[in-house]
Amino acid sequence: MNARGIILLTGGAGFIGSHVAVEVAAAGWIPVLLDNFCTSERSVVGRISELVGGPVRCIEADIRDAQAMHAAFGSTPVHAVIHLAGLKAVGESVEQPELYHDNNVRGTEVLLTAMDEFGVRRMVFSSSCTVYGTPQRLPIDESHPLSAINPYGQTKLDIERMLDRWVDAGSERHVCSLRYFNPVGAHASALIGESPRGIPNNLMPYVVKVARGELSELGVFGGDWPTPDGTGIRDYIHVVDLARGHVAALERLDSMRHERINLGTGVGASVLEVVHAFERVNGVKVPYAMRPRRAGDAASAFADAGLAERRLGWRARLGLDEMMRDSWAFATRDDG
Ligand SMILES: NC(=O)c1ccc[n+]([C@@H]2O[C@H](COP(=O)([O-])OP(=O)(O)OC[C@H]3O[C@@H](n4cnc5c(N)ncnc54)[C@H](O)[C@@H]3O)[C@@H](O)[C@H]2O)c1
Repeated sequence: MNARGIILLTGGAGFIGSHVAVEVAAAGWIPVLLDNFCTSERSVVGRISELVGGPVRCIEADIRDAQAMHAAFGSTPVHAVIHLAGLKAVGESVEQPELYHDNNVRGTEVLLTAMDEFGVRRMVFSSSCTVYGTPQRLPIDESHPLSAINPYGQTKLDIERMLDRWVDAGSERHVCSLRYFNPVGAHASALIGESPRGIPNNLMPYVVKVARGELSELGVFGGDWPTPDGTGIRDYIHVVDLARGHVAALERLDSMRHERINLGTGVGASVLEVVHAFERVNGVKVPYAMRPRRAGDAASAFADAGLAERRLGWRARLGLDEMMRDSWAFATRDDG
């Protein structure tokens, strides 16, 4: 590894953070993870080390712990922070809005204070397409109106605004908020991927659990949307493409103050397209049953990915088949 500088990844042991760490290292930076493992496993650190070909340091800390954050920055000369740490389950955020505010919003405040103490001026932030609320036009570009339709989405909006104030309050501060669409897939090695605990919230982990026989069938919420096959359309993006988008943002951070950029493919896929692609690519059945629409869902949401291409020189390269193949390879990695 040549040493371009240290990139601190909060939430670096998580689904997206682990893939970002690998791409950051491949670009010649030194990733250091910081995680409290509230939704991830310690074993991920060893797997990342295996993938980057050398030991990766992980600081076990909670971003809300000011002392621990002070110690973390004190022990490490950080070039930039990629801030992925956060809770992301929409349903849980409705049940426990204070927890989401405390963990995500206050946690970011504590992180920024520690960065200020040590003169760290660059951040790439994990935002989300949830900041657009219910789509009012398609494709969704970055000037689409913003609204929070649940407490989780509110935390992302609050943090983006906090980052505006942070950038304005000091000189030479640089932030890129990446608004992810729907990250799926796993590293091609099947060493890292997504392993949600309990009943998954999102389509892909649910499909995987049904394919493995751990859940009996996939409930498809709404077969009567105004889409070609009646099921909801989303913009799925391979997590490795997404991770590379972070490196592209990192490379251009110094030319930004606070920019918001979508990371999506620009192409939507319906629930049934995902199910059928999964079945075809992996040769397994995914039994499903149509259910009524869920309140708050939208027929279609997909990105205008043009700004990422113009501003970051990045675009998604992997398609639905690779997403399906890699998700399944990771889910079945330990099967004989
Ligand atoms: N996966 C998605 O669909 C998606 C979409 C849009 C945005 N995002 C955002 O991307 C980020 C990463 O998501 P992910 O899918 O990798 O989730 P994840 O749960 O796999 O990873 C989050 C990581 O952050 C850590 N973490 C949480 N709170 C922490 C705290 N207080 N201190 C230290 N570590 C903490 C967790 O232990 C975990 O390792 C999150 O901020 C999420 O909101 C995710």
